[in-house]
Amino acid sequence: MNYRHIYHAGNVADVFKHVMLSLLLKSLAKKDTPFFYLDTHAGAGRYDLNSAAAQKTGEYRDGILRLWNSQPLSGIEDYLSAVRALNPGKTLQYYPGSPRVARFFLRPQDRAVLLELHPNECALLKIEFARDRQVAVLRQNGYAGLKAFLPPRERRGLVLIDPPYESDREFQQLIEGLRDARARWESGLYALWYPIKSRPPVERFHRALVASGMRRILLAEFSPYPEDSDFRLNGCGMVMIGPPWKLDETLHLLLPDLLKVLRQNTLGRTEITWLVPE
Ligand SMILES: C[S@@+](CC[C@H](N)C(=O)[O-])C[C@H]1O[C@@H](n2cnc3c(N)ncnc32)[C@H](O)[C@@H]1O
Repeated sequence: MNYRHIYHAGNVADVFKHVMLSLLLKSLAKKDTPFFYLDTHAGAGRYDLNSAAAQKTGEYRDGILRLWNSQPLSGIEDYLSAVRALNPGKTLQYYPGSPRVARFFLRPQDRAVLLELHPNECALLKIEFARDRQVAVLRQNGYAGLKAFLPPRERRGLVLIDPPYESDREFQQLIEGLRDARARWESGLYALWYPIKSRPPVERFHRALVASGMRRILLAEFSPYPEDSDFRLNGCGMVMIGPPWKLDETLHLLLPDLLKVLRQNTLGRTEITWLVPE
């Protein structure tokens, strides 16, 4: 486990992922009844963009910093409010990881479970939520957590699966974990982030999802770089199973505008498709 998210915090992939996460949670918060949030690969929760690690890669400069300095973009107000909650002044210093973004949307009746296996990251996450009674932090394998924490008593909610993709087996583990999770909780909303480094593994992943027999699988892909560039991470995607009604229409309006702010040249692309419809 070498991956440390601080090197990538606030980059384009994070911005895309957390904009999507904000839309999903906002939609869950429309009903008064409580919802549950499970983050299987939670990270540290908060990242200091002035730290040596974040400064070394400077990835956030092409991501959140561009948005921070650009004209307001319709549809991402809630996400930006979650970022501003950690940066009350004019200067951007802290970037919220998925747990902090999610916490922004929890109402008093809602609850979150955050799982993180890396000892240092988990220790930071525990400090971040030390006095928060709505949030439980555990040092546990995220895939095992899909068995341990589902189904939740709230009976509605969101599971975010955002692994580091250090191993070639990650896509396979993801499919297996999802199968376990859905066997326990079929009506849950699931969001799976994935990198686009080259097409073949992504296509295999999509085929495996189709073959799983699950319905209502929406895909959103976001590539600020052309896919044949030499850059390591050309883009990324989010698979959503059981997405909120009309989310596809919202994304068709929002993502092209977001891409205009974040793309590296005119060859970047975004795509929203139903991998499997109703
Ligand atoms: C991409 S980062 C998570 C970023 C976070 N979700 C966010 O959006 O801010 C992946 C995290 O998963 C952790 N990790 C790796 N393998 C894991 C496992 N099997 N179970 C739980 N966490 C794991 C890594 O230590 C790393 O912090």
